[in-house]
Amino acid sequence: MERVAPTRGARDHRSHAEMSETASPPQPPLRLAVIIGSTRRGRFGPTIADWFTAVARTRDDLETEVIDLADVQPPEAPGTASSAADAAPAAAASGVPSAAEAIQAFAAASEALERADAFVIVTPEYNHSFPGGLKDFIDAHLRQWQAKPVAFVSYGGMSGGLRAVEHLRQVFAELHATTVRNVVSVHNPWTTFDAECPDARAAAHRMLDQLGWWGSALRDARAVRPYEEV
Ligand SMILES: Cc1cc2nc3c(=O)[nH]c(=O)nc-3n(C[C@H](O)[C@H](O)[C@H](O)COP(=O)(O)O)c2cc1C
Repeated sequence: MERVAPTRGARDHRSHAEMSETASPPQPPLRLAVIIGSTRRGRFGPTIADWFTAVARTRDDLETEVIDLADVQPPEAPGTASSAADAAPAAAASGVPSAAEAIQAFAAASEALERADAFVIVTPEYNHSFPGGLKDFIDAHLRQWQAKPVAFVSYGGMSGGLRAVEHLRQVFAELHATTVRNVVSVHNPWTTFDAECPDARAAAHRMLDQLGWWGSALRDARAVRPYEEV
């Protein structure tokens, strides 16, 4: 990896444990859903997502689960519902989830979004934006995003996927979600990605610190007044 950078600024990273020495009372862990946005055959996304998820799972302020959009298909997508039985044998042969499995996975993913307090989207950049399948998945939900924070891990060519992230910020504003300023952005990772890179880990923790702040503030606020009442 040649560069991993939050979009601006650098400062010493203090771990959540160090920060929480002065904070009380302790809060229950935030439920974090990490969403893998690329679904292409031969995709690089899981390499980045596995690394990031491992970092997130070192933290005791987060309970992390992963939603892989390669396993998920919206019920209204072509080739699902009525044709599920027809599609199953071909899908099984190709190693791709069958339509029926994908529908089940979609329902499970929706429930995971519902219970999540915060989200991280792992996204590549395709033609200066984010993948169409990710847009379909985002659009298939509304209440699940509302009054919750969203952070991004992006990757791509020289831009490190940042143009995809800027488009996602616009989409999530419409969905009443708030996006976190710092981004973990990785450029040209295909042959050089180093999962041990301390800069990458530090960038991930800084972003997760910000996400955690928003996540607990908004969790408390939703408990006081459900966002549906606003
Ligand atoms: C259709 C397509 C369009 C792409 N457009 C861009 C682009 O605009 N900017 C960029 O930095 N990389 C672009 N790339 C490179 C991808 O970021 C790179 O292939 C990345 O690994 C894709 O993620 P994935 O392997 O998880 O699908 C594009 C790749 C594809 C397949």
